[in-house]
Amino acid sequence: MADRHDLVIIGGGPGGYAAALYGASAGLDVAMIENQKVGGTCLHVGCIPAKSLLETAAVRRALASAAEYGFTIDEPALDFGVSQDRNQGVIDKLHKGLSSLLGNRKIRVVNGTGRLLGPGRVGVSGGEDGDLELEGDAVVLAAGSVPRTIPGFEVDGQVVLTSDELVKARDLPTSAVVIGGGAIGCEFASMMADLGTEVTILEALPKILPGLDTDVAKLVERSFKKRGITIHTGVEVKGHEPGGAGTTVQFGDDQSIEVERVVVSVGRRPLSDALALDGTGVEVDERGFVKVDENCRTTLEGVWAVGDLVPTAQLAHVAFAEAIVVIKDILGEDPTPVDYTRVPWCIYCHPEVAFAGLSEDAAKEAGHDVVTVKHRFGGNGRALIIGEADGLVKVIAAKDADGRAGQILGVHMVGPWVTEQLGQGYLAVNWEATVDEVAQFIQPHPSLSENFGEAVMALTGRGLHG
Ligand code: FAD
Ligand code: NAI
Repeated sequence: MADRHDLVIIGGGPGGYAAALYGASAGLDVAMIENQKVGGTCLHVGCIPAKSLLETAAVRRALASAAEYGFTIDEPALDFGVSQDRNQGVIDKLHKGLSSLLGNRKIRVVNGTGRLLGPGRVGVSGGEDGDLELEGDAVVLAAGSVPRTIPGFEVDGQVVLTSDELVKARDLPTSAVVIGGGAIGCEFASMMADLGTEVTILEALPKILPGLDTDVAKLVERSFKKRGITIHTGVEVKGHEPGGAGTTVQFGDDQSIEVERVVVSVGRRPLSDALALDGTGVEVDERGFVKVDENCRTTLEGVWAVGDLVPTAQLAHVAFAEAIVVIKDILGEDPTPVDYTRVPWCIYCHPEVAFAGLSEDAAKEAGHDVVTVKHRFGGNGRALIIGEADGLVKVIAAKDADGRAGQILGVHMVGPWVTEQLGQGYLAVNWEATVDEVAQFIQPHPSLSENFGEAVMALTGRGLHG
């Protein structure tokens, strides 16, 4: 006899556990199947460890500027093992907290690998809980993703690594090639460079961080180069020849570079294989993503899919948002679908990047006549106090018939702590607020967020400090 629940979820990462927590708080009886540890990629090998490592890099930068503030300190030495132990401590605390939350809400966590047997039926095997079958009025697939690899660069965890191995490394190399200059590549390149590794990024497309507004991307690239990161864009990697203490990577037109380690960060592929979806009625696209509609319903009635498993932005907070849409849909509450053109994006490299809404080019491509403004952190008191004045806030607004700036279409930030400042920009874009409305809000002084206020004020045609 199969155990019956209102909701059965496969995968205990942000998509799965958000569906479980939100569903249970709405009164559903929930079972969640996880074959590793609840928290998923995000908690164990993604967002949290990557940001922890970037914080180690931030501490190193602060030490480097200590003399400017009057401190005399010896040249700092890094015991990377100690910082990794601290990072693991953060992960463990969050894992414990999440496990307690799940327990408090009476969510049944089943250890094993889940597969879809048919409408409302899920099989579990290979874990501590043995072989069993669960039935659910609703089923949510949330199996997430794993790093993509490229032929010729077999991951051995020693010389060739993906983010999975790098976040667990006990030491850092003296030199590294990062293949792929996207979100992971740039965060790791930034972290390693700040901690003393000689880094080279090899990116196939004409620029790194291809989704960013051009002004923001240029500033990141300039900062990276200033900190000694070598960037080759528009290049193809050919292969590598291990030898000595590392390997020689061949790329471009007969170019090569000898490094200790190679980090492959060329995107992530959905983990749909183990779900055994063939023949179930759940359709998968040619890249392995589960096909869903705007409410994350799959092509099989009663089965939803969320997170990295579906072809939307691969972000933890997008997985959370999709999970909430799904639960509301299950409860018949007619949810507002996620507007993927306006989700917040934060990249935690140095300098940080944060944006919501359209870039200038994307706005023009979408047919908008736009007015834009760029406001730099160079004149911001708080930025000068913390010694991080390199950066800008760019606001893109629709041009009204009278030529004035109207609705805010995009807010793009690069610079100090912008990942913590995006909130107002995100609200402005998603509330479809106008420049005149947002310019009325008061920004605390002295604060980094004044820069956003000044940018918007400048778009009204009048400014204070701009
Ligand atoms: P996952 O987190 O991958 O969770 C899926 C879970 O399902 C896993 O625990 C897996 O073990 C389990 N599972 C899979 N198949 C089965 C099965 N058949 N049966 C049982 N269990 C199964 N996003 C951000 O928003 N901000 C960031 O700063 C950020 N940084 C990142 C840094 C790195 C290095 C990486 C790799 C990713 C980062 N991401 C970030 C992306 C974020 O981690 C993912 O978008 C998010 O984890 C997706 O959640 P998910 O639940 O869909 O999948
Ligand atoms: P990505 O899609 O962001 O970037 C991959 C990069 O690799 C692209 O620029 C692509 O052009 C390049 N590339 C692909 N094949 C290549 C090849 N053969 N040679 C050279 N370059 C190649 O993927 P990434 O960085 O692996 O991250 C995966 C996802 O994880 C991201 O898309 C993002 O959704 C999420 N993430 C989010 C973060 C955040 O929000 N702060 C941080 C890290 C990851």
